[in-house]
Amino acid sequence: MEAIILAGGFGTRLRPFTYTRAKSLLPILNKPMVSYLITMLPKKVDKVILAVNYRRDQIEDYFENNDFGKEIIVNDEPKPLGTGGAVKFAEKHITGSFFVLNSDIICSLNLDDMIEFHEKKNAISTISLWPVENVSEFGVVDMKRDGNVVGFVEKPKSEDAPSDLINAGAYFLELKVLDYIVTGRLVSMEKEIFPRIIADTGKFFGFEFKGYWIDVGRIQSYIAVHKLLMKNQNLDYVQGNNCENNGKLTNSCIGDNVFIGNNSDVESSVVFDSAQIGKSVALNNCVIGENCKIGNHSNLKNTVVGDNEPIIEKTVLDNIIVWDQPVPKGYPKKQIGNVIGE
Ligand code: GTP
Repeated sequence: MEAIILAGGFGTRLRPFTYTRAKSLLPILNKPMVSYLITMLPKKVDKVILAVNYRRDQIEDYFENNDFGKEIIVNDEPKPLGTGGAVKFAEKHITGSFFVLNSDIICSLNLDDMIEFHEKKNAISTISLWPVENVSEFGVVDMKRDGNVVGFVEKPKSEDAPSDLINAGAYFLELKVLDYIVTGRLVSMEKEIFPRIIADTGKFFGFEFKGYWIDVGRIQSYIAVHKLLMKNQNLDYVQGNNCENNGKLTNSCIGDNVFIGNNSDVESSVVFDSAQIGKSVALNNCVIGENCKIGNHSNLKNTVVGDNEPIIEKTVLDNIIVWDQPVPKGYPKKQIGNVIGE
C-alpha cells in the first residue's frame, strides 16, 4: 500500500525558517517533522511517495541518510501543483487504495482504524476530522450521523455551523479519485476535488478521532507542538547532544551543540542546533535559528530569529521577526495554494 506525503509547500507562514529549509524538515523535539508522519504509517504501507518541490534536495539528502524500513520515492514536481496536482503527479506510483497526508500535521490519528472505517463504509474517500472551538476561522464539514459528508461550509458563524469538525489533513482514497484530477496544473484537493467527489458519488466519509492534533503551519503552532509533545512525555525540557547549558530551560527545546550562558532563562522557546545564547539572556516564546548568536543581557519575547542572525548585546525585542539576509529567489511573497486566513 502507498502513502503520499504532501511536502512541497513553501511554508510561507513559517518564514524565515523556510527561507533556508523545507518546512517538513523543521525540527520538532529535534527530529524532522516528516519523520513523525512516516512513523505513524501502518505496517501495510510499504511505499512512501514524498510529493516535493521547494528544497527537494534537502529532503532527498535526509532520506538517503535515514532508513525507515519502507521504500521512499521523492517525487519532484516541475512546479508547485497544489495539494491535488501533487497527488495526480504521483499517480504512476499508486497501485490501489492509498493515503494522502499533509506533512505538517502532528496528531494521534490511528491510520489502521481509519482504513477499517473506510472499508466498513465502502467509501471512495475518507478524511480525518478534528473538532475545533473557533469554527468561524475554518472550513467545517456538513456530515450525517453515519459519517457521510454532504459538503463543506467555509468559515461559518458559530450559530450557522453544521458541525465543529474540520479537515485534519489525512485522507484515505480509492484509485478512482485520481480520475477527478486534471494533469499538469495547480489543483486544490480540498477546494476542487472533494466537493466533486461528494456530489458525484455520495461516498465521501469523515473519520473523527480523539487525542491531539496540531497543524504546524505557523510559528505559534510550532512552539505549541513542542509544548504539547513535552507535556505528553512528562518532560520539562528537551536538550540535544553536546550542549553546554548554564542557564534554566522551562518548557523549551534546544538542539545539538547549543551553548547557554550563566543566568539565562529560556522559557517556552525552541532553539535550533549550534545557537549560542549569551549570559543573562531572557527568551520567552521565541524560536532561535541555527547558528544564531544572542548577545549577553538581551531580552527577547515572542520573537523569531532566522538562521545565522546575530543579535548584539542588550537587545530588547518583542514580537519581531529578525531576518537580514536575502530572500531565496522564487520564494513567494504570500501564501499560494490553500490560503488560510492569517
Ligand atoms: P503556507 O505557505 O504557510 O500556507 O504553507 P504550505 O506551503 O506548506 O501550504 P499548506 O500549509 O496549505 O499546505 C498543506 C500541505 O500541503 C503541506 O504539507 C505542504 O507541504 C503541502 N503542499 C502545499 N502546496 C503544495 C504543492 O504545490 N505541492 C506539494 N507537493 N505539496 C504542497
